[in-house]
Amino acid sequence: MRKLIIDLITAARPNYMKIAPVYHALCKESWCEARVVHTGQHYDPNMFDIFFRDLGLPPPDVSLGVGSGTHAEQTAGVMLAYEHHCLATRPDWIVVVGDVNATLSCALVGAKLGIPVAHLEAGLRSYDRHMPEEINRVLTDAMADILWTHSSDADENLRAEGIPADRIECVGNVMIDAFEMLRAKIESDDTRAGLALDETRYAVLTLHRPSNVDVPKVLKSIVRSLLDMSTRMPIVFPVHPRTKARLTTTGLWDELSAHPSIRLLEPLSYIQFMNLVTGAAAVVTDSGGIQEETTYLGIPCLTLRDNTERPITVTQGSNRLVSPDTLPTALARLSERTRPPPPALWDGHTAERVVANLKARSYMRGMLHD
Ligand code: UD1
Repeated sequence: MRKLIIDLITAARPNYMKIAPVYHALCKESWCEARVVHTGQHYDPNMFDIFFRDLGLPPPDVSLGVGSGTHAEQTAGVMLAYEHHCLATRPDWIVVVGDVNATLSCALVGAKLGIPVAHLEAGLRSYDRHMPEEINRVLTDAMADILWTHSSDADENLRAEGIPADRIECVGNVMIDAFEMLRAKIESDDTRAGLALDETRYAVLTLHRPSNVDVPKVLKSIVRSLLDMSTRMPIVFPVHPRTKARLTTTGLWDELSAHPSIRLLEPLSYIQFMNLVTGAAAVVTDSGGIQEETTYLGIPCLTLRDNTERPITVTQGSNRLVSPDTLPTALARLSERTRPPPPALWDGHTAERVVANLKARSYMRGMLHD
């Protein structure tokens, strides 16, 4: 019997941790063949190669080579390149993850070519259409044939948009699979020790959202707040390329790098970054995935955003939304680590449920026969 070809789409850093557990679970199956497609959105070695290496992913089977650009350039560039690839070697399923531009591009290509699309991490909503990711989420979910969600509140969001229940499957949080897959390596990594942080209470910071870094006034107010915060606790800051560029053009880079309590680093690998996070007293971030990882680990997380598409990390987790003004006070009032039970199905077995569901749905569609 011919094996079904499953295209796994990766584009940017947060995608790799979601694709890797699914890739490894698919490789154990005899009915299908996983094909890793990298669109090229993140291309620096420390935003791409080291993640593939850490997560045990092979070099991509397909590299579309679509790098940075405006939203239209990225979205359309990936559509053109991926459609070309699908017409040459048609996959049986397209699996997209998260909410980056390529998630939308590849879902749209699949929908137009009649290739079924599955969206992992469906149903997240910030209800803020200023975020490019929110537009990508809503449109991808409107088109996908399978919507794999990570919590029941995501199911409710989808049902409220009129999406039929039979397309929705709650499978849990695949990021937790990635963490558990690499837990031993994360725990034995020496990044924390190398920075002489083992005995220190410190905060880890990440920052890259356009709404925080692209407007100089906002970026300056965040930097003022960080300088205030660093008097209470040293800050370790692996800097995203977008943020580095903005800090440099606003002249803030020199001020931050001269500060004795702020350590600026290049972007870290997944293992190095999680080694730092697991030892931190707090995390300050505007990332989506880190809100979930800290919830799972019970580490206090202060999210520099007005809203979150992951409210479960606030209601059931260790996350709090803060502004540049409230950040220093929130840090001063930080509670100690607690580890309440993680949300349902955040258990390290999501990829297995994804693969079982994909197989069952392939039978239902007549793509597989006994
Ligand atoms: C993208 C995603 C965002 C995700 C983030 C994680 C969209 C709309 N946004 O945002 O959801 O949270 O990735 O990092 O898809 N750059 C480099 N080297 C790289 C990659 C980017 O220098 O390897 C530079 C680009 O040239 C650009 C900037 O960083 O100037 C931003 O990159 P881009 O991929 O456009 O968006 P992100 O901010 O990374």
